[in-house]
Amino acid sequence: MITVSNVSVQFGGTTLFKNVNLKFTNGNCYGVIGANGAGKSTFLRVLCGDLEPASGEVVMPKEERLSVLKQDHFAYDEYTVLDTVIMGNARLYEIMQEKDALYAKEDFSEEDGVKASELEGEFAELNGWEAESDASKLIQGLGLPEDILYSQMASLSGNEKVKVLLAQALFGNPDIILLDEPTNHLDIDAVKWLEEFLSEYFGTVIVVSHDRHFLNNVCTHIVDIDYNKIKMYVGNYEFWYESSQLIQRMIKQQNKKNEEKIKELKDFIARFSANKSKSNQATSRRKLIEKLTVEELPASSRRYPFIGFDMDRELGKDILQVEGISKTVDGVKLLDNVSFTLGRTDKVAFIGESEQAITMLFKILMEEEQPDSGSFKWGVSVTTSYMPVDNSEYFNGCELSILDWIRQYSVKDETETYLRGFLGRMLFSGDDVYKPVNVLSGGEKVRCMFSRMMLFGSNVLLLDRPTNHLDLESITAVNNSLINFKGVVLLASHDHEIMQTTANRIIEITPTGCIDRQGTYEEYIEFRKNNNV
Ligand SMILES: Nc1ncnc2c1ncn2[C@@H]1O[C@H](COP(=O)(O)OP(=O)(O)OP(=O)(O)O)[C@@H](O)[C@H]1O
Ligand SMILES: [Mg+2]
Repeated sequence: MITVSNVSVQFGGTTLFKNVNLKFTNGNCYGVIGANGAGKSTFLRVLCGDLEPASGEVVMPKEERLSVLKQDHFAYDEYTVLDTVIMGNARLYEIMQEKDALYAKEDFSEEDGVKASELEGEFAELNGWEAESDASKLIQGLGLPEDILYSQMASLSGNEKVKVLLAQALFGNPDIILLDEPTNHLDIDAVKWLEEFLSEYFGTVIVVSHDRHFLNNVCTHIVDIDYNKIKMYVGNYEFWYESSQLIQRMIKQQNKKNEEKIKELKDFIARFSANKSKSNQATSRRKLIEKLTVEELPASSRRYPFIGFDMDRELGKDILQVEGISKTVDGVKLLDNVSFTLGRTDKVAFIGESEQAITMLFKILMEEEQPDSGSFKWGVSVTTSYMPVDNSEYFNGCELSILDWIRQYSVKDETETYLRGFLGRMLFSGDDVYKPVNVLSGGEKVRCMFSRMMLFGSNVLLLDRPTNHLDLESITAVNNSLINFKGVVLLASHDHEIMQTTANRIIEITPTGCIDRQGTYEEYIEFRKNNNV
């Protein structure tokens, strides 16, 4: 259970939320929603004590343990997977370390013996004996092989690390679990497993997500951050969505009625205030107007960015030729003899069991990685721009303002007015552009990456899961931009809708090469079903 009283947070002059009063109780799963930059991650940081609110307080019972999904993918590189998971319960891990140190001592004294038995007692109380098998269950539930427990974190891929950090957050039955966008890097099976785990959880779960499907499946409550307020609603996402739409409609209708009434009264006053006999009536109507208020619809933080890709150069006939590319990483064959040729009207969705394989293919095409064998050739007219799945290298340790950050990528024009044009379309306006990029929210960083891509004017776009972190409005904007784009697209995405509406060709990367078919995503799924692929 967590109680939030009168909490307010602001950065600089901007208030994220004010006077928040909420109670989160056991057995419930709270879905935290809101636009990119609304303050979801910040709210979670306040809940776990990582950030001191400007006012108010957060209280939880002393005996309860709170656990948070860690965001730093490199923090545990020197530990094994098993240790990393067990560290989810800090006290248990500490006891294990102390025990090991004691038993390793050569001069084990009587005092040490007493200490050891105390530690053993606490260890047993915290289910220490089951720690390894509990960790193993979590790891396997998320689809990782059991023996990965004994690997170093440093040797794991990004996707594997995400799963281990998730297992860490869930380990040891914490009373309160805070998860910030846990499904972002998970495959469908792992998401399903997580949904089941959370649905049955005894404790308090608070989860930030942009994934409607996930929210519907797990949430008992919705916590919406908007209008500088945080409000809690009972029910799942769909219920929240429908009811919030209804409330908006009702306010609008009421406003419309009031406006009409006010206009009518004003007309009356204008007509009759000169007329002595009616002037009394006019005065009383004037009083009536004062009572009628048009309730200002508060400005929602949900806004649509505009994404549009213009090509500086027309495409020629040859686009891309890929021949027999193979690549093995850490003994796993990701790409096996992959060949295809792209034409100037192709918008290709890349799918496949291994997301790592698709990411690797994109990296090879962008010359960030070398294939073990095979080759590829871009056409002479081609200019590419690339959205990697992980954008951290563009922002980590970077102290530039948004404006200076985007300026690095502008070849044509570096003036503030020109750059503000791109940033404005991505919803960074006014003083926002002077914010340092390292404080930006996940979605805001992705919006920066889109501004950067738009600047390039390329005729071929490579997008590796571009909608991760984005809110619904931004996803719609990305989707429209890809539909309208006149050039060639190479796309990997979890988003069914985007795949279906963008792609006219599907290439599935398989363990033994690839399957390449013209047609939409749904046609491909149908084809797969009918042919037992
Ligand atoms: N230290 C800071 N100084 C100034 N602004 C900040 C700071 N930290 C965060 N912000 C701003 O506060 C806002 C809220 O950020 P937060 O990360 O909580 O958003 P979010 O709701 O989690 O968004 P997303 O959906 O993109 O993850 C953003 O506009 C962000 O740029
Ligand atoms: Mg966030």
